[in-house]
Amino acid sequence: MSVSLFITFEGPEGAGKSTQVRRLAARLEGAGVPHLVTREPGGTPMGFRVRELLLDPDVDISPLSEFLLYSASRAQLVREVIEPALAGGNVVVCDRYADSSVAYQGFGRGLEREFLQTVTWEATRGVTPAITFLLDLDPEEGLRRAAERGAKDRLELADLGFHRRVREGFLALAASQPERFVVLDASRPEEDLAGAVWALVERTLAFLPGLRRG
Ligand SMILES: Nc1ncnc2c1ncn2[C@@H]1O[C@H](COP(=O)(O)OP(=O)(O)O)[C@@H](O)[C@H]1O
Ligand SMILES: [Mg+2]
Repeated sequence: MSVSLFITFEGPEGAGKSTQVRRLAARLEGAGVPHLVTREPGGTPMGFRVRELLLDPDVDISPLSEFLLYSASRAQLVREVIEPALAGGNVVVCDRYADSSVAYQGFGRGLEREFLQTVTWEATRGVTPAITFLLDLDPEEGLRRAAERGAKDRLELADLGFHRRVREGFLALAASQPERFVVLDASRPEEDLAGAVWALVERTLAFLPGLRRG
């Protein structure tokens, strides 16, 4: 049986998820650990098309449609990318995953949690991360950082109340599943955060001696 590890990064816009995913990938590369990096929405040709639709500020999407589109992209990603990579003995690192749907479409948009869980279970086939790093940040700071990246996407344009509910949603999820979540203060310097992430991942890898080394 091959050994694998599934890690996700969650948090609001501009929290530094993509930055930390890149840094973790570099550490894994340096350590010769076989790994695969992917992201949501996207990560597959189908998911990429869905991503464009979801982020387009000119397209109106109802909360239910939004959730189903994310779920469709997720279902494809799990089957086409995540499951095969885990089966092949890789560390899989994903930039956003199912927790984002609970935070954004559940806490943010008000969709019913049980319904979200049922659909998410089908979409993911129960594939759940072993470690989820939640980069927690004040939404105003996150939006300010994201704005520096350029044009705002559909979600970045949502009101501040929405983004506050999303933050609370992420924190509630983390509190309800402390065995999986690691909450990091994303206002800390990038290098500190990368160090904290690597310390935990490295320690976890030490308990997975069967993991292939490059
Ligand atoms: N710890 C940090 N402190 C300050 N700025 C950061 C930090 N991490 C990332 N940034 C900057 O914030 C912006 C958003 O980072 P990014 O990784 O794209 O966030 P996300 O993927 O969560 O939206 C980028 O300009 C990035 O350089
Ligand atoms: Mg990002």
